[in-house]
Amino acid sequence: MYLYHFSMLLVTLLAVVAVAGATPAVPRAATAMYNPDLFQGDIKGIAGQEPGKERAAILGEQYLWPGGVVPYVFGNSVNSYERSLIISAMDDFHARTCIRFVERTSQSNYIEIVSNDSGCWSYVGTIGGKQRVSLDSNGCMYKGTVIHELMHAIGFYHEHCRNDRDYYVTIHYENVQAGMESQFNKDTYWQYVGEGYNYESIMHYGTYAFSVQWGVAKTIVPTDPNVILTEAYDKLQMAQSDANQINNLYRNQCSF
Ligand SMILES: *[C@@H]1O[C@H](CO)[C@@H](O)[C@H](O)[C@H]1NC(C)=O
Ligand SMILES: [Zn+2]
Repeated sequence: MYLYHFSMLLVTLLAVVAVAGATPAVPRAATAMYNPDLFQGDIKGIAGQEPGKERAAILGEQYLWPGGVVPYVFGNSVNSYERSLIISAMDDFHARTCIRFVERTSQSNYIEIVSNDSGCWSYVGTIGGKQRVSLDSNGCMYKGTVIHELMHAIGFYHEHCRNDRDYYVTIHYENVQAGMESQFNKDTYWQYVGEGYNYESIMHYGTYAFSVQWGVAKTIVPTDPNVILTEAYDKLQMAQSDANQINNLYRNQCSF
């Protein structure tokens, strides 16, 4: 009996210690991506569309990059290490999709990649003229994050906001920070470009996005209990379904 009580006490103590010890701070890579003031955390604007009319992939050929060619420039603050990281992310597109990032010469529509702004964010689709992709030196310099933001720039939204997402994930609103519920709004109008929902998509957020308690209170929980969601910044490449969707979206633009 004594032994029983003692071991229960020990178990309780250990549990308390474990909970206290297992409350990690939000990683900077997550804070940088989950911006409270941006649409779905990291979308600065949408080509030709009002928030609320968003799609899994942008609708309208005029919002795609003609020929699948995306001219880019680096802001002055992007150092040589960051440039090579960003180019390695672009290489994932080059190896697996028809998208081509090219150094801008005189094109009027292009992306300017900056590292001196706050947070990781992009516009969705081509908005005309110069548009920024922000890859904050403090938190965004991960290959997966770069691929994610560049995929927004070519016209994609988030996987976990797909209109069919409720079959695949449960959003635990009780664990979402107050006021951040709309970060999980589903796409109202959408087009799918040939692929089903994929937990592995580089456009899928992790389990603690906008959580009241990182590492403890889950906000996005897969319906399939065997699935563990990975943060975009922990991914090393886009999923094959991402590559397929890019090629499908750009089928009229790219000449293979
Ligand atoms: C950040 O970099 C961009 C591109 O080089 C530049 O135009 C802008 O002035 C910089 N902003 C600050 C706050 O330094
Ligand atoms: Zn995003």
